[in-house]
Amino acid sequence: MELAVGGGLRRSASHTSLSESDDFELTRLLSKPRINVERQRSFDDLSLSDVSHSGGYGRGGFDGMYSPGGGLRSLVGTPASSALHSFEPHPIVGDAWEALRRSLVFFRGQPLGTVAAVDHASEEVLNYDQVFVRDFVPSALAFLMNGEPDIVKNFLLKTLLLQGWEKKVDRFKLGEGAMPASFKVMHDAKKGVETLHADFGESAIGRVAPVDSGFWWIILLRAYTKTTGDMTLAETPECQKGMRLILSLCLSEGFDTFPTLLCADGCCMIDRRMGVYGYPIEIQALFFMALRCALQMLKHDNEGKEFVEKIATRLHALSYHMRSYFWLDFQQLNDIYRYKTEEYSHTAVNKFNVIPDSIPDWLFEFMPCQGGFFVGNVSPARMDFRWFALGNMIAILSSLATPEQSVAIMDLIEERWEELIGEMPLKICYPAIENHEWRIVTGCDPKNTRWSYHNGGSWPVLLWLLTAACIKTGRPQIARRAIDLAERRLLKDGWPEYYDGKLGRYVGKQARKFQTWSIAGYLVAKMMLEDPSHLGMISLEEDKAMLKPVLRRSASWTN
Ligand code: GLC
Repeated sequence: MELAVGGGLRRSASHTSLSESDDFELTRLLSKPRINVERQRSFDDLSLSDVSHSGGYGRGGFDGMYSPGGGLRSLVGTPASSALHSFEPHPIVGDAWEALRRSLVFFRGQPLGTVAAVDHASEEVLNYDQVFVRDFVPSALAFLMNGEPDIVKNFLLKTLLLQGWEKKVDRFKLGEGAMPASFKVMHDAKKGVETLHADFGESAIGRVAPVDSGFWWIILLRAYTKTTGDMTLAETPECQKGMRLILSLCLSEGFDTFPTLLCADGCCMIDRRMGVYGYPIEIQALFFMALRCALQMLKHDNEGKEFVEKIATRLHALSYHMRSYFWLDFQQLNDIYRYKTEEYSHTAVNKFNVIPDSIPDWLFEFMPCQGGFFVGNVSPARMDFRWFALGNMIAILSSLATPEQSVAIMDLIEERWEELIGEMPLKICYPAIENHEWRIVTGCDPKNTRWSYHNGGSWPVLLWLLTAACIKTGRPQIARRAIDLAERRLLKDGWPEYYDGKLGRYVGKQARKFQTWSIAGYLVAKMMLEDPSHLGMISLEEDKAMLKPVLRRSASWTN
């Protein structure tokens, strides 16, 4: 799918191109005033004082903490934080900024995103030279924190145009609201034309659907709005429509009996077959967060009103479902262990007919007395008991987790430090699947062998999510410990995409070097720890109106 610009219009297959009026709109939007402090206040739902008074920690708790300069900066040169303050940043921070800027992609002279990896040594480029929507999020946050919002605005607007294309896999037309997994800028030197080429899953390995892209787009739009105070972008008819299109894909009525979102395998960060089909935690948490962000930004006009109502109803049901049925702690595990099966009717305690024998052995050892987490997946007779980092961190940030559950997740990380953090933060999931199970679940995927890549590998990008969750729960020392570990290796190893092994000690078998989100994730973690007020751009306060779950204990064996 191609979008022709610079040299007029071009149509590729059945897809529409960026028209002159679109372009005009884009320029108009890009030149609007950006910073509006007053509006930022009114949009605020988590101020710094909230962080310091709501069980979080205040500024005073930081040694040598400083706030980045803010204001608009150029895309070259020193980061605002190190330029404006006498505070000595860690020596690798400067290298990280340089590497991040080397990953920038320009379109018509304007920065538009960052490529997934700038690894010149790698023989196979595959699609790592593309701008991935999910990969760009930490880059975007780093630029926002550094007072460089224009690239984020450009990205949000251009991806919105890509959403407008007709998308097809073979002869099958995809939903209108689908956002691309990734896109690329193509240069035709002869014609002097630059075109965009997007992938909505039709070129991706395994033809996986990027369900997370649309959610990240909405979350990023809120982060941009919150940081800059520029509400005009989210208020444009284009952004309002973009949000509605994404939402209509996931709020449509069907045969569902649960409020969670049914997905195919590999539809998120884990974009290969890994047994994450059904109702994966990563998607449910991002879905929840995107719904809450959209609720803040959607206009209550004729078209928006219906969505606002649908979102409110869905959030109510989704939070109840997740907090009740995905939550696992020692007590809950003990209850499941004692579950009766084959229960019929409304009085069933074991609603999904989970067979206690399906509880894996490792879990009994792993579950601490204090602590808990959201399991990987829940569907009829199936509980995927694995721990997935991204879903749990997003659950904390979006307040899908109750304050008690958030504390319990952090307790678990501390209790199971070696397993979940090891020598390189942080395990994408735990534990790895091996042998027969690996054959069945991954289809013998040689990239996802045990303790490698998506199968128990350690991904430095997750550091920013951990840090944000630590700040939100008032446990910055956990983040500091994790960042210390990362700093010992990341630069030296060339910013790998992932690490392998039970402890995450080895640079991943097929890991790219100079993986952009490893670099950006580190910078975001650093900046957030230095100035916790950044947390607000990616965190939502608890909504007291959402029901707390009432967990019923199985009485079956106590009688
Ligand atoms: C891999 C990851 C995916 C990421 C992409 C680009 O496919 O699994 O999450 O977006 O690489 O870095």
